[in-house]
Amino acid sequence: MKRAVVVGSGAREHALAWRLAASAQVVVTPGNAGIAAHGITCVPTPATELDADLFVIGPEAPLVEGLADRLRAQGKVVVGPGADGARLEGSKAFMKEFLTAASVPTAAYGAFTEVEPALAFLSTMTPPYVVKTDGLAAGKGVLVTDDLEAAAADVRDKLSGAAFGDAGTTVVIEEGLLGVECSLLYLCDGTNATALAPAQDFKRVGDGDAGANTGGMGAYAPMDAARGPVEAAVRTTIVEPTLAELARRGIDFRGVLYAGVMLTESGPKLLEYNVRFGDPETEAIMAVVDGDLFECLGTIGRGAGAPDLASAGYAVTVVLASPGYPERPRTGGVIEGLGEDGQLASPLEGVVVFHAGTVRDDAGRFVTAGGRVLAVTAVASSIDAARALAYEGCARITFEGMVMRTDIAAAVGHP
Ligand code: AMP
Ligand code: GLY
Repeated sequence: MKRAVVVGSGAREHALAWRLAASAQVVVTPGNAGIAAHGITCVPTPATELDADLFVIGPEAPLVEGLADRLRAQGKVVVGPGADGARLEGSKAFMKEFLTAASVPTAAYGAFTEVEPALAFLSTMTPPYVVKTDGLAAGKGVLVTDDLEAAAADVRDKLSGAAFGDAGTTVVIEEGLLGVECSLLYLCDGTNATALAPAQDFKRVGDGDAGANTGGMGAYAPMDAARGPVEAAVRTTIVEPTLAELARRGIDFRGVLYAGVMLTESGPKLLEYNVRFGDPETEAIMAVVDGDLFECLGTIGRGAGAPDLASAGYAVTVVLASPGYPERPRTGGVIEGLGEDGQLASPLEGVVVFHAGTVRDDAGRFVTAGGRVLAVTAVASSIDAARALAYEGCARITFEGMVMRTDIAAAVGHP
């Protein structure tokens, strides 16, 4: 049997490994307790010391650090761009400059390292004000607010370097875009791109999109509102110019190009690029992928085409997070409701529990070990049915202070 290595330790990697395991022998490095309990081998060995027919890199940090380059230098087949392509996510200032060069529709912006010019630019903007830290901040370095004072305070805070360390020494201030947001993930082989099922992510911590931005509190796929003409418009105005600009710069992008798109009144506009599978979108997307994922990703990694991956049914993912997430998650709570395999102790057909941050204590019980703990995912023949099933699954799990949105996929198309 062919071998695949998945790099990472969250629910996204759990979902990728679970799906790849249908047609390959899968090893996750380092993985987590829930992935191992699910019968997938997890090893602490660095990816560069493992051997496999395919390497899939989950998180952005190793991509930005050049792990894909190191693996390719060893002759490995890798899904994930090199450090050059990963800059699209690693630096928002670089991404915005790239988008301008490629004429991709995106929010007007300015990038600043000094407080005074940043505040002067901010005062020319209209609400909502958007302030971003330049580097990687796990989805948490973005403030969107109607309050100019709060935006100005955030600019000062970010430029002081106190909030995000090195990631926060440049700020990007953007025009606030209004509309419906969607996550469009493309598999790229360096030349071609094929869309995965469009998804929608629920980024704010609270119901009704209240509270802080998080890594993502839930998702669903496919998002029908982003199919058809919307997808066609995104392809011609965003994806194709991006592929052309990558080629012009000599960047051989083999991996996932994740377009965070705002569907505005004047057409789709790009909020951001990520250079990897989204989390939690991937949990929902993997649940509906219909086809040989190993074969498809191998083709991408070899630069030999971007085959279509069909999807079947609808999936809803609800994230269960630790109390205090995202600011100060408190971990160590014993999780009730999971069996020996890390899945629901009283199983529900169509529900799979992906582990984001769990460990096992001395007694073998699953214990919370991260901000996001579990990503409960359900598949059914409609969004509503998948949503009901996902929440039925969530109701079978408890831990102290568990944080969960109750409105994931409730207002489809309008989170
Ligand atoms: P980012 O990390 O750039 O995706 O930003 C996180 C979230 O902040 C996005 O998913 C949007 O919900 C919101 N956001 C980012 N940029 C803008 C913008 N220019 N206008 C409105 N909302 C934005
Ligand atoms: N779900 C947002 C992200 O993966 O960045």
